[in-house]
Amino acid sequence: MKFLVFGSLNIDLIFSVDHIAAPGETINSGSLERSAGGKGANQAAALAKAGMEVYLAGKIGRDGDFLLELLESYGVRTGHVLHWEGATGQAIIQVDKSGQNSIVLYGGGNAALQDAEIGPILKNFDRGDMILLQNEIPLTAALMRAASERGMKVCLNPSPFDGRIAALPLELADLLFVNEIEAAGLAGRPVSEDLGPVLEELALRFPRAELILTAGKEGAYYACESLRAKGDIIDLPAADTTGAGDTFTGFFLAARQRGCGVAESLGLACKASSIAVSRKGAMASMPFAREVF
Ligand code: RIB
Repeated sequence: MKFLVFGSLNIDLIFSVDHIAAPGETINSGSLERSAGGKGANQAAALAKAGMEVYLAGKIGRDGDFLLELLESYGVRTGHVLHWEGATGQAIIQVDKSGQNSIVLYGGGNAALQDAEIGPILKNFDRGDMILLQNEIPLTAALMRAASERGMKVCLNPSPFDGRIAALPLELADLLFVNEIEAAGLAGRPVSEDLGPVLEELALRFPRAELILTAGKEGAYYACESLRAKGDIIDLPAADTTGAGDTFTGFFLAARQRGCGVAESLGLACKASSIAVSRKGAMASMPFAREVF
């Protein structure tokens, strides 16, 4: 079974700040780091670091070649990453003293992906392979349909959550990874700390999907048919939450693929993301399989 992550690659510019800048406020940062990110690339890195066979498709400019070198060093197969004459996607990330972040995206190559580029890539994948999608490229709906027609399993992380999500064929998702904001958005409810009703509403709305709800320090919840499970984080000091959800997604899928049960997989993915949060950066902070399994 092969994983195809069709998604974003970003150059992350990470500013370490005392607090996230308020509207109209100018603040200084203690440090600035340029590192590899993008939800697509991060989730591919997490799968590879967890020992899976993973292929990444996306689009970058020449300024993004260092992303490919790093991804390949983790074992990600990058032959389906296309180049264009413009810039690579960028993310301006503020990380405050508690590790919380705020992110501004510039699409770059991610936004330049074309429908016609889907077919030649998908033809390399078959029934039983899994496509993993996020919401940082414009092709997600078309990819869900095309992958589903090929008999691939469709896994969606509708992040970042915006107006485009409503137009996705969500009923085609076999697995849905959401955080509290995305879960509330999908359920059409205000964000609340009471996650149970939101999860149950999503379980009713997406009866054939495996639902995985990540809830920061509260760990993660699973619902599918009559099965419910929960995983807990491990308590480590937080340095940077960037990429924590991407780490969770990659390690949960890898744990399931390695034959672990749902509850065990939730625990292992929570452990991996707890380790990632204790270190700085997105894919650089992700643990390797030997640290988790
Ligand atoms: O999920 C974290 C990622 O979101 C960052 O790496 C940034 O590039 C944005 O895509």
